[in-house]
Amino acid sequence: EKGGYDYFMLKEIAEQPQAVADTLLGRLGENGEIALDEVRLTDQDLRDVDKVFIVACGTAYHAGLVAKYAIEHWTRVPCEVELASEFRYRDPVLDRSTLVVAISQSGETMDTLMALRHAKEQKARVLAICNTNGSTIPRESDAVLYTHAGPEIAVASTKAFLTQLVACYLVGLHLAQVRGIKYADEVAAVVAQLQEMPGKLQEVLGTMEPVRELARSLAEAKSVLFIGRHVGYPVALEGALKLKELAYMHAEGFAAGELKHGPIALIDEGCPVVCVVPSPAGRGVLHDKIVSNIQEVRARGAQTIVIAEEGDDDVVPYADHLVRVPRTPTLLAPLVTTVPLQVLACEIAAARGHDVDQPRNLAKSVTVE
Ligand code: F6R
Repeated sequence: EKGGYDYFMLKEIAEQPQAVADTLLGRLGENGEIALDEVRLTDQDLRDVDKVFIVACGTAYHAGLVAKYAIEHWTRVPCEVELASEFRYRDPVLDRSTLVVAISQSGETMDTLMALRHAKEQKARVLAICNTNGSTIPRESDAVLYTHAGPEIAVASTKAFLTQLVACYLVGLHLAQVRGIKYADEVAAVVAQLQEMPGKLQEVLGTMEPVRELARSLAEAKSVLFIGRHVGYPVALEGALKLKELAYMHAEGFAAGELKHGPIALIDEGCPVVCVVPSPAGRGVLHDKIVSNIQEVRARGAQTIVIAEEGDDDVVPYADHLVRVPRTPTLLAPLVTTVPLQVLACEIAAARGHDVDQPRNLAKSVTVE
């Protein structure tokens, strides 16, 4: 049932192009309108939204962090992302013009469910992004967009994460359309770019052999750091989380701009630092900043593992290991840059002899606080 793979996780990593394609399928209406699955909200309700809160846990929270960049850019509505376990205990400011987006693969995560209930008590509108049909979180929400990742068996989330990203993009585009703001013009272009992602993911999967080799060489590392900027920052957090949970290794993700405010002191000779580099096209400043961050960590002895677009030559002199991903618009880049980090964590864990599908102390669905 693992379809020839050693682990469910490897199978699920390989299923990502299909999972992304399935999540996009049928979401476009006749006039290019993006449709949610269940909407017990009127368009006017969505037009009245003056603030978006995204609540989730773990990997789903990282999807939310990416979503913030897309939703604010496309809709110009302020968007905050919060760990569900923090949100529910801190008296957030919510009312009927707040849209709370709850992201959950299982649909049963207790912290996320309780955050959703708290939001509803305050009259906020709740939209669920969920992979499990009919589970509690979508049942209690005002609107639902299902991810079509199919069942995820490995405890560590992979394909569900990528489909959560896709669903977040669709929600952002739907809001932009309904609200009719100027970015609505971008919607068709972004949808076309999204349709290209399954093919790009397939390309990425075809180039993972050097990442596997690299993973074996990192199996004895004490600690691995991940840095990124903009949407690359949540990708860095996700890469670090995967490594912690699978390889039981110290791993941390940082916003690259924060390095000199403390974390750079961690870097010593040979310390692996994974650098998620944004596209040089579009947001050039961002790209140049991270290139200088890579230089900085390397000058302090780091072994740099650079994830960068094809054709980005600026990074070549500073990359001890270079992993290429296809050219992708900045906001969508997490779909491709996450994959090498999943493979890296999975292979490091396997090299260390761990049960990749069933990491110690973890459960697939966390239905207690
Ligand atoms: C990490 C992982 C967890 C889940 C988190 C939320 O690989 O799988 O961090 O993402 O427990 O679970 P759901 O999405 O089911 O609410």
